Amino acid sequence: TRTPVTVTVTGAAGQIGYALLFRIASGQLLGPDVPVRLNLLEITPALKAAEGTAMELDDCAFPLLAGIDISDDPARAFDGTNVALLVGARPRTKGMERGDLLEANGGIFKPQGKAINDHAADDVRVLVVGNPANTNALIARSAAPDVPAERFTAMTRLDHNRALSQLSRKTGAPVSDIRRMTIWGNHSATQYPDIFHAEIAGKNAAETVSDDTWLAEDFIPTVAKRGAAIIEARGASSAASAANAAVDHIHDWVRGTPDGDWVSMAIPSDGSYGVPEGLISSFPVTCADGAYRIVQGLEINDFSRTRIDASVRELAEEREAVRSLGLV
Ligand code: NAI
Repeated sequence: TRTPVTVTVTGAAGQIGYALLFRIASGQLLGPDVPVRLNLLEITPALKAAEGTAMELDDCAFPLLAGIDISDDPARAFDGTNVALLVGARPRTKGMERGDLLEANGGIFKPQGKAINDHAADDVRVLVVGNPANTNALIARSAAPDVPAERFTAMTRLDHNRALSQLSRKTGAPVSDIRRMTIWGNHSATQYPDIFHAEIAGKNAAETVSDDTWLAEDFIPTVAKRGAAIIEARGASSAASAANAAVDHIHDWVRGTPDGDWVSMAIPSDGSYGVPEGLISSFPVTCADGAYRIVQGLEINDFSRTRIDASVRELAEEREAVRSLGLV
């Protein structure tokens, strides 16, 4: 039998945690042949709730679940971790300034980055889900100088999946026929879902749709503001779909993307497509042998350029703000 892979989930007692842990333990994260150990990190007042979730995990009798550890100490929770899912974050509350939000999250992601640096396994892969995800990933990464920078990623896969679903609705094509969707930039309202390189049953998606008004006034804002629409409808933010996207992100990073397709991941920029180096920005990537590569050579038209630049500018401003707070 294989040695278990250690997966750490922060914010384990939250709503995404509740939707995520059972999918990990059932084998959907890493595959049906890989046993997992779960380390749950929570703040002290939420430990009891995390224990309740762990009891339910026990009660599923998942054959692949090799053990569960619950802690409020990052050093313990990230000890030997191979996959770190950083879900717990400080949400923006009424009247909170951006600086306060970034500072509060710095207080979470800086120590967690340091604990990953000091205690995680050499092959650790990190996905930041907690918002502001791209900038939280930047903070964690800069607190982990001994971990290769490319192991710190942030989640735009939910945006990617939302874009697939919206394009499928518009065209009537099943999502399984759609490939090469791209989310560029920040996981925020400035993100840019790009269908100019997407394909529907092998044909260019933008040409197939051929509806610029829909693209600019319906598709892009619907995808970008979907999180707010879910809150409006459910009275709570996306949880199961966010957990699903986190599973997709790690699964594809570790196990690879299908031939001829790609996915969207927010990753440290290498300067590709004019995105300043080091910003954690969403790109189209292919994954193989446990590593991702940015898809190169895509032609970026003016419509796309303007939107990519606007989202990247926002990321640069967030980086400046956390720099001035001494967080990176
Ligand atoms: P939630 O509020 O239900 O759960 C968050 C949990 O994190 C709580 O149990 C809290 O105790 C815990 N937590 C807070 N500080 C912590 C710390 N320092 N260490 C460990 N745990 C800590 O929130 P929910 O709905 O599960 O969402 C979590 C985050 O994911 C939010 O920041 C949300 O904005 C973000 N999100 C990101 C998405 C994306 O596409 N990137 C999509 C949906 C949500």
